Amino acid sequence: HSVAILGAPFSKGQKRRGVEHGPKAIRDAGLVERLSNLDYPVHDFGDLNFPHLDKDEHFMHVPFPRSVGHANQLLSSAVNSAVGAGHTCVMLGGDHSLAIGSVEGHSRQCPDLGLIWVDAHADINTPLTSPSGNLHGQSVAFLLKELQDKMPNIPGFSWMKPFLSSRDLVYIGLRDVDPGEHYILKNLGIQYFTMRDIDRMGIQRVMEVTLDHLLARKQRPLHLSFDIDAFDPSLAPATGTPVNGGLTYREGIYITEEIHNTGLLSAMDLVEVNPVLGASREAVEATAALAVDVIASSLGQSREGAHVAYHEIP
Ligand code: ARG
Ligand code: MN
Ligand code: MN
Ligand code: MN
Repeated sequence: HSVAILGAPFSKGQKRRGVEHGPKAIRDAGLVERLSNLDYPVHDFGDLNFPHLDKDEHFMHVPFPRSVGHANQLLSSAVNSAVGAGHTCVMLGGDHSLAIGSVEGHSRQCPDLGLIWVDAHADINTPLTSPSGNLHGQSVAFLLKELQDKMPNIPGFSWMKPFLSSRDLVYIGLRDVDPGEHYILKNLGIQYFTMRDIDRMGIQRVMEVTLDHLLARKQRPLHLSFDIDAFDPSLAPATGTPVNGGLTYREGIYITEEIHNTGLLSAMDLVEVNPVLGASREAVEATAALAVDVIASSLGQSREGAHVAYHEIP
């Protein structure tokens, strides 16, 4: 198995500048070196080139619909190619609207994928329920078949159709859910674990139920969409929409170790690292280093350690 890294320097799914520098911050924190300690080839395909669209008027109160749609179309085709070439694809954001193209491209190769969304937010607003209008808070609504008739025709997205069922999705880490989102979660019977659920059940049980929910009937490829704001802001301060009371370091790493241990991780996103928003250089570097830890752990770096063949030990 090999890993493909795809940088997606894009920020128009929300209104704060800087998250387009996320891929550079994560690479500068030593991503490729860390992954080279694991035992498969790593291909860094560099950053995608997203064109600037001159005319991109609001749709209702949603800014940059065509830019977000087009960037995701490009990303989808890149992820499709990477997974098709046999790589485990790692997408570095950029804001979380990029999950639309990343999951969509992955699904073209793996139509039966299961999606694990680790985030403080559900990102399941429709343009009609969204308080902000920002598309990074709406990504999941674009993916779900069950929300098709709640989604208006948003310019920029005619290249895709929703493909995911609400039972193929599990959330972990929620603690800032808008009223319209809560209605959708309940109405569609989506499996989700809030920070309160983690407090009650413990992260071990949460992962057991998560993986059982997605894998009990059959083994299938997994997509992990990891928003760095799932972590507590004390650990990941350099992000656009921090919410107190987030994952501890150990909870975050436990989640990714368990996902790795399934052997089914086929593509992942690491999004919302915004190096412009850290209060200091240390704050930015800590957030980016955490992103590297999440990715390395998802791909098999383990706290237990690992050994090569016995005869190779000096
Ligand atoms: N729920 C809020 C909204 O719809 C915040 C979304 C934050 N999303 C994110 N990917 N950080 O705007
Ligand atoms: Mn290769
Ligand atoms: Mn979030
Ligand atoms: Mn998010």
